[in-house]
Amino acid sequence: MKYFEGKSILLTGASGGLGSEFASQLLDLGGHLILSDVKIESLDRYKTYSGAGKVLGLIAGDISTKEGTERFLADVKKIHPCPDMIINNAGIAQAGPFGSVPLDRWEKLMNINLISPMRICHYFLPDMASRGSGHIVNVSSVAGIVPMPGGAPYTASKHGIKGFSDAIRMDYQKQGIHVSTVHPFFTRTAILQSERFGVNIDINDYPQFMIESPDNVIRETIKAIAQKTDFILPGPTAKVLDLMRRLAPGMMGLFKLF
Ligand SMILES: NC(=O)c1ccc[n+]([C@@H]2O[C@H](COP(=O)([O-])OP(=O)(O)OC[C@H]3O[C@@H](n4cnc5c(N)ncnc54)[C@H](O)[C@@H]3O)[C@@H](O)[C@H]2O)c1
Repeated sequence: MKYFEGKSILLTGASGGLGSEFASQLLDLGGHLILSDVKIESLDRYKTYSGAGKVLGLIAGDISTKEGTERFLADVKKIHPCPDMIINNAGIAQAGPFGSVPLDRWEKLMNINLISPMRICHYFLPDMASRGSGHIVNVSSVAGIVPMPGGAPYTASKHGIKGFSDAIRMDYQKQGIHVSTVHPFFTRTAILQSERFGVNIDINDYPQFMIESPDNVIRETIKAIAQKTDFILPGPTAKVLDLMRRLAPGMMGLFKLF
């Protein structure tokens, strides 16, 4: 896949389950990566990386606040004025009926999953537009196309990033900017153990065959990004649920998880 060779790529949430797959697969494909996360200990291994791609820099950045995101953007700028590709992958989740989720917790979620990715796009889009090229990849979820009961803020953030991405695609496509959204179903990463409020659920009670592996999800996603796909549904369950919500929206209640 030549698409990633020599491309400067900013990746958030690089320490996580999907982020570390993005990092290693994109490096294998010759990408030049700026890796960031609020926790960067696990990224130390990239300091000695030698392979097809390059690590341009590691950034410890907390994007849960406006100030943290501004500091993060200033740190990116020191490494690269405007990356060719931005992958907004960092994210958190929570489970519980909306009224049980403390206000500060869901506001934090909205910042990390929606507002800061918008801030990051707002910062780089003008430079991408004047350069005449760029690719923004926003990691949404199946919860960005169907509601996730017991996850109202998560659903709002992931629908929000989908709608936002669709709008900026229209605004900037004439300036050579591609925008992709990624909509995985449950994938075996730390996010499945997220905070619970007023519910006691265990992801192991869910049919395990439906839970995807991070490796497969990201392999399929990367192929689709290289084809400049707008709307990426990695894995069989995501595709089935997308079809169901189009053909039989009333059946979506069957997937009530919490
Ligand atoms: N795993 C799934 O089931 C699943 C399904 C659909 C969508 N997603 C989305 O995929 C993306 C990656 O999630 P994952 O499954 O790898 O989860 P993960 O918990 O393994 O990784 C998320 C990463 O985001 C980082 N992060 C959290 N708060 C941050 C902050 N304030 N600033 C900077 N970084 C922060 C974490 O440190 C972590 O490394 C998320 O956007 C998530 O919503 C995941």
